[in-house]
Amino acid sequence: KKIAVVMGGPSAEREVSLNTGRAILAALKEKGYHAVGIDLDPRKFVEQLEQEKIEVVFNAIHGLYGEDGLLQGTLEMLGIPYTGSGVLASAMTMDKTVSKRLFMSAGIPTPRSRLYSKQDVDLAVVTKEIQEVFGTPVVVKAAAQGSSIGVIIVEDAADIEGAVTEAFKYSGHIVVEEFIKGKELTVSILGSREPKALPIIEIVPQSGRYDYTSKYTKGATEYIVPARLEAKVAEHIQQIALDAYKLLGCRGIGRVDVMLSDDNQPYVLEINTIPGMTATSLVPKAAAAVGISFAELCEQILQMVTD
Ligand code: DAL
Ligand code: MG
Repeated sequence: KKIAVVMGGPSAEREVSLNTGRAILAALKEKGYHAVGIDLDPRKFVEQLEQEKIEVVFNAIHGLYGEDGLLQGTLEMLGIPYTGSGVLASAMTMDKTVSKRLFMSAGIPTPRSRLYSKQDVDLAVVTKEIQEVFGTPVVVKAAAQGSSIGVIIVEDAADIEGAVTEAFKYSGHIVVEEFIKGKELTVSILGSREPKALPIIEIVPQSGRYDYTSKYTKGATEYIVPARLEAKVAEHIQQIALDAYKLLGCRGIGRVDVMLSDDNQPYVLEINTIPGMTATSLVPKAAAAVGISFAELCEQILQMVTD
């Protein structure tokens, strides 16, 4: 079957997606698949697929159009199978205001938060409210972005208003969250019907902040696999991550980002349905820890939709 690795597109994570896509394309070729790369042009996408006679799509688009259900909806209409989560799971997961509401309703621990929409926000009122409810530090996040784009950790109350304005540049909705001090962890999940959690990765950015630079600069962050946790705590966190993945109906692959507070309370921040997949990204690291090579990982994700 002819496979297209769809990558790039117009999102703020375009460059990251191109790296993810190129790595996946090389891996599939290494495994002997007939695969081509497509740089997503939303207006020409259907034409691109038809021209190349594509039979399966490997989705490597982070953020806008690829991680939010839109690409998935288009492919559903065309009857072309694609890797990873479907329309609804993608849409719910991409928007943190939606996924956090669902986590809360299901008893999955997530940091205390307030959710705001651009159209009904009075900046002065919101700023005061954030200061009163959360104090500082506080985390202000664009609801539907990735790679920490539009995420601001505010240390000083005087900077709250600017952070809210900044986050709204990236999304019509924002999440304001309590700052959890502790360990930064991520749980990669592989599978559809019976998803399994891979070993937890502990993330230690040298700068103290796991932001865009710490994520994508070589050597800027130390990754510890498996995370330095008691077995019981690790199992508990893996279970919570699996619960979150299943709750939102994710398929194929996903990565659940978790904070473990200094008093050992886990909090789910979000799920990434199109996690970074360069050879040095988190999910491939977790897979390698259980002996799954990058090429095998890509093949497994693909086979979940072709078998
Ligand atoms: N949004 C980036 C690509 C990630 O979650 O890995
Ligand atoms: Mg993310």
